[in-house]
Amino acid sequence: MDVLLDVNIVIDLCAPRLQWHAEARSVLNRCAENSGRVWLYAGSVQTLLYSLFKEIKLARPNLTAKVAMRLARQELAEFAADKQWLAALAGEGNVFDSEDPEDEQLVRALDRIAPGKMILITRDNLLIDRKDPRLLTPEQFLSRLPEAKSIDFIDLKTQQNSILPALENSIHRVLHHGQYIMGPEVRELEEKLEAYTGAKYCITVASGTEALLIALMAIDVKPGDEVITTPFTFVATAEAIALVGATPVFVDVEPDTCNIDARQIEAAITSKTKAIIPVSLYGQVADMDEINAIAARHGNIPVIEDAAQSFGATYKGRKSGNLSTIGCTSFFPSKPLGCYGDGGAIFTNDDSLAKAMREIRVHGQERRYYHTRIGVGGRMDTLQCAVVLAKLDRFDWEIERRILAGERYNTLLNDMPAVKQLAVRPDRTCVWGQFTIQVENRETVLKKLNAAGIPTAVHYPVPLHRQPVYQGLCRISSNLENAEAVAARVFSLPMHPYIDFDTQKSILNAVAMAVA
Ligand SMILES: Cc1ncc(COP(=O)(O)O)c(C=O)c1O
Repeated sequence: MDVLLDVNIVIDLCAPRLQWHAEARSVLNRCAENSGRVWLYAGSVQTLLYSLFKEIKLARPNLTAKVAMRLARQELAEFAADKQWLAALAGEGNVFDSEDPEDEQLVRALDRIAPGKMILITRDNLLIDRKDPRLLTPEQFLSRLPEAKSIDFIDLKTQQNSILPALENSIHRVLHHGQYIMGPEVRELEEKLEAYTGAKYCITVASGTEALLIALMAIDVKPGDEVITTPFTFVATAEAIALVGATPVFVDVEPDTCNIDARQIEAAITSKTKAIIPVSLYGQVADMDEINAIAARHGNIPVIEDAAQSFGATYKGRKSGNLSTIGCTSFFPSKPLGCYGDGGAIFTNDDSLAKAMREIRVHGQERRYYHTRIGVGGRMDTLQCAVVLAKLDRFDWEIERRILAGERYNTLLNDMPAVKQLAVRPDRTCVWGQFTIQVENRETVLKKLNAAGIPTAVHYPVPLHRQPVYQGLCRISSNLENAEAVAARVFSLPMHPYIDFDTQKSILNAVAMAVA
């Protein structure tokens, strides 16, 4: 549970007013123990400063006003350094019809937070007299039963904490200029991602699925054509192929990486093969050099990397997304680089493909209202681009943290023979879009983990050639026994850049008990 501190509580802590200090400190401790965040209201800055200034003058009357004010500023800056600032929004401005405008502001700020997610801690009787369960004294807060500490599968909340000012600036900039479609943030993000991946072109699009669809349309994949891919992936990979009327041709995966087995691709190629889509599953790139070489030997078949789960990963030092004819990624919120809705991007170094994909993204128009090809409404919203832009500064650090968390899990798992780990090839990094392991008796293990409060997910329980919709729509090139076997055994553990070692240890303790 997060807490928002009223001005009087901040002064208890900063002044410090001895009779209330210890209780206020206990509130902070309780909050930290439960992984809650401590918030200050940005609309209270003047009151905070003035109240602390008054306290300092009262305690040390000999100080000049200037010195007392400097001390108050210093003290508050230090105090606020590890707290969150809750923005004061426009709806909290006109509160002059209230008897206590500042109280009214705080309550309105609470109104925009989901119920049960934040408590305002105050000693203000006017607020307490409202008998609102969201408004508590320190004493009332401390007498509540401690909350059970929960483990997040993905922790977007902590990430948001660390970038909140950049995020709010970025979003508000869009709200002010109002160019919600193809605003300046779209190109800004594309340029930054071109620099990040080293690709000549980045084209942002509405989602990872749309990225695959647009890529296939650009290379003119049509009904009757075949596209080689893996059956062990999120459905969108095959769906994009089916949407352009082509046939997905499934080739088996490597049992240890769960990525397409490059050695089996050649046998699947026919005169109808128009593209190959390897998927960089779980955040590790497939064997792209081998796949590109096979494609080159067969008349330069375009290779589209589905990098939805691997953005930020490297293959022989090069960035996922920029390893083949076209790379497609997703900014779905849970992806290594996610927005707050749907979004995606396409990468290429090919001038004419880039032009085609830019046009297809906007209904196939070459210039305004002049349409030269069939396209889609596939643009990424300016607001979503603004969200990704705010996340970029921290992205490299987050990727390092993901890799570290993966290594820590794997080191501990070395002592658990009942669990099969994903093999990470020495020439690549895995950014653990999912941290996925394999066990024999998955359903029992998952039940036990669920009972122990460990969130899990199965990526993916049914390979695509077994999905009802693809029964008549796909061609099976080889024996798909590895895809079938891993689909029956895989499941994913909590993974995000903010997971700490203790949490990982407690998760793996639960896994050890579940597989015993
Ligand atoms: C491998 C893969 N391909 C494609 C997609 C589709 O991305 P989006 O959800 O952004 O459409 C996903 C998303 O989960 C994915 O994991």
